[in-house]
Amino acid sequence: MKREKIKTLLAAAVPQPQVLVKGWLRTRRDAKTFSFIELNDGSCLENLQVIADSALANYGEIMALGTGSALAVSGSLETSQGKGQLLELRAEVITIIGKSPETYPLQKKRHTDEYLRTLAHLRPRTNKYGAAFRIRSELSFAIHQFFREQGFFYIHTPIITGSDCEGAGEMFRVTTLDPFSPHPVGTGEDFFATDAKLTVSGQLSAELFALALGDVYTFGPTFRAENSNTRRHAAEFWMVEPEMAFCDLDGNMDLSETFIRSLVTHLLTHSAEDIALFTKFVAPSLASTLDTLATQPYERIPYAEAVAILNRSGKRFSFDISFGKDLQSEHERYLAETHFKRPVIVYNYPKTIKPFYMRLNDDEKTVAAMDMLVPNIGEIIGGSQREERLSVLEARMADANLPREPYWWYLDSRRYGSAPHSGFGLGFERMLMLVTGIQNIRDVIPFPRTPKGLDF
Ligand code: 4AD
Ligand code: MG
Repeated sequence: MKREKIKTLLAAAVPQPQVLVKGWLRTRRDAKTFSFIELNDGSCLENLQVIADSALANYGEIMALGTGSALAVSGSLETSQGKGQLLELRAEVITIIGKSPETYPLQKKRHTDEYLRTLAHLRPRTNKYGAAFRIRSELSFAIHQFFREQGFFYIHTPIITGSDCEGAGEMFRVTTLDPFSPHPVGTGEDFFATDAKLTVSGQLSAELFALALGDVYTFGPTFRAENSNTRRHAAEFWMVEPEMAFCDLDGNMDLSETFIRSLVTHLLTHSAEDIALFTKFVAPSLASTLDTLATQPYERIPYAEAVAILNRSGKRFSFDISFGKDLQSEHERYLAETHFKRPVIVYNYPKTIKPFYMRLNDDEKTVAAMDMLVPNIGEIIGGSQREERLSVLEARMADANLPREPYWWYLDSRRYGSAPHSGFGLGFERMLMLVTGIQNIRDVIPFPRTPKGLDF
């Protein structure tokens, strides 16, 4: 007999004479002549109620089963007499696959997120983390579906790279030399015979492909060695990076807005049950946040106006803000959360605080950058129109003290058939925080990597 998923059985909502399910025991309640087992197989939030009759051959053993035990149950799926569920499984055979003794750390009571982080290997078995990681999976597919429907091509950009896209000096080194080798890392004796790093962004490669295939995107892991131990930074995170040829900053902002709106709408339909858990237990305001994201227009303001709003706010920030300074997370959150109460795209940032590749505006002071800021998180998207003019790009690289030679291939794209193009990067984990209300990035990543944190 084939194993049925509990999700499929419950969704179909029809009794069946013979089914086989396999899963883990969540709770057991014993009555006089039978025992109720709540079985969960990870396919959905809901458990399947199993009725184990005392006539079962191994009933004695079943009565001793602890939370977390793995079982196979076959029997008939019947309309439930009791309240709380439509269907229940009347067990004919219960096979005990793996017992879970009393030392199982996930007993029935609710545990804190901090405690569950120390149990990252077991936490997906809880309702909350099961839901979070099912949403993570659904969101990944929604992203691919969105771009596919829009005619974008999916490009795999390298993880090991020699170039620092963001120029922020936050890269991890890749070397095969041992720490006491007499040969310096990144030289002739090293594996690549040059400085090799883990990528911080697939953008530069994506640009080259946009200038060949039109509209492309990358979606993969990126790495940043920024030593910021905050609730929204991870050393290893996933980024979605669309890049569009013949597209200016306005088109870029339009795409970012359509994109976020479409992802939220997708999840409201396809992950409704899991999202409902977060609305109920994690973030009561989540339902209205998601409704705003899906239905309301987003705000767009130039950076200079954002600075003016912050200075007019009368609010005391820990960091001062004036033209030329980068927005801190407190500023970003004030704009999105308090001032506009919805996502806001801030554009045209001072060139001094943005990377070399962003297109210089006619004022020669600002670049065609755009950041999308959202309530609760702050920056979720960073992007720009790219500098397509070779001479301007070279001047910007010189300003940033970047050597031209290692970027010869990038500069070539501005030599041969250069064209306006734009793109952005969405922090995948920050998007997950937004749609679940989860407050810490460590809780939306299966096995998070953060400063001084490399467990599991
Ligand atoms: O703003 P960032 O640095 O932009 C880029 O890397 C561009 N090259 C993207 C592009 O234009 N193709 O990063 C993009 C997004 C941020 O807005 C944020 O959501 C996320 O990536 N991000 C992080 N997420 C988790 N942990 C970190 N340490 C992150 N750093 C950036
Ligand atoms: Mg950024």
